[in-house]
Amino acid sequence: MIYIVRLFIIVLIAMLMHGCSQGDRASVSQPPSQGLKEIFQEDFLIGAAISKMHIEESDAEAASVIEAEFSSLTPENEMKWMYIHPGVDSFYFDVSDQYLALAEKLDMHVVGHALVWHSQLAEWVEEVKDSAEMARHFEHHINTIVSRYKGRIDSWDVVNEALNEDGSLRESHFYELMGENYLEHAFKLAAAADPSAELVYNDYNMWKPEKRAGAIRMVKRLQESGAKIDAIGMQAHWSLVGPEIEDIEASILAYAALGVKVMFTELDVTALPNPWDLEGAEVSQNFEGSPYMNPYPESLPDSMQLKLAERYEDIFRLFLKHSDKISRVTFWGVNDGHSWLNNWPIKNRVNYPLLFDRAFQRKKAYDAVTKLKRK
Ligand code: G3I
Repeated sequence: MIYIVRLFIIVLIAMLMHGCSQGDRASVSQPPSQGLKEIFQEDFLIGAAISKMHIEESDAEAASVIEAEFSSLTPENEMKWMYIHPGVDSFYFDVSDQYLALAEKLDMHVVGHALVWHSQLAEWVEEVKDSAEMARHFEHHINTIVSRYKGRIDSWDVVNEALNEDGSLRESHFYELMGENYLEHAFKLAAAADPSAELVYNDYNMWKPEKRAGAIRMVKRLQESGAKIDAIGMQAHWSLVGPEIEDIEASILAYAALGVKVMFTELDVTALPNPWDLEGAEVSQNFEGSPYMNPYPESLPDSMQLKLAERYEDIFRLFLKHSDKISRVTFWGVNDGHSWLNNWPIKNRVNYPLLFDRAFQRKKAYDAVTKLKRK
């Protein structure tokens, strides 16, 4: 009899142990796999620049990653002057209309990029030599595009890259014909055409002290003129070793002190050497085909994956530290295969600058940044 009672007790304990572990497992079951947008939703929007192929949804894998991971979209090229206003009196809105439709279908924060930029201009713009005529085209460009999407574009990159590295104003075609007031004119036109849109000044190397000082001067001048400027976009085309976190942080603090939001609008981290890393290299020198400049044609070694992960972890640790000042972080592309950095500054290289690899798999860098939120 005593044997049966002992056996019963052992079985009972075993069942309780099993049930408990099941219960534990049930209570610790992981939430459904969250994307970047949920993981960072209390901190800032997480966006991606998308290309025409993504806008046309011709790549199902890309489409599912875009929907699952990002809460903001930026058109990498399709709203630039050369594409959207190709002729003096002709606009081309087919692709930008598709972009808006996709972004609204996915309930995304919608960025417009970029109303005024010295690069990727339609050829006819460069041929305008008269100031009054340039002003008319400038106004027509901004009014037509911003009015068409009034209330649908959440944030406009109004002016892109108007500063030189020393903080002086770039002597672009607009500057030469309209003077420095073209900046104020652009922001005022955009605000008048769509008062609800957030208006951004966007540029690269905005961590550099001299350029930071120039940006601060420019923003203050815009504010004193009565123009509406809501944010500064730091593009963030960075490398494994630069810029220093301290320089980025100094710019976050300095721009936020102006009363504008800070955003990182074109984040990527190149894993490859660049010509200017070479002593005496001339950037225009063609390094295409150089094995030194394309060291990982097949895949990125684990050691480099770890370096990229550590760099992204340092960057996101800083972003999270100042999430009260940062409203958006946008990656300049969806996965490594689509990055502009496979062809700049040297064509036909294999680069690895983003969080998703060419098979749309999450890289070590993805885990490194999301781990910061799981602690
Ligand atoms: O559209 C043509 C296509 O018809 C042609 O077959 C193909 C082959 O040459 O070129 C296509 O145009 C390319 C365009 O991207 C669209 O893919 C241009 O050659 C190429 O120069 C252009 O590069 C873009 C670059 O801006 C132009 O400066 C990159 O994709 C884009 O990522 C990059 O983005 C800029 C931001 O807008 C502003 N901040 C800097 C950033 C990097 O330069």
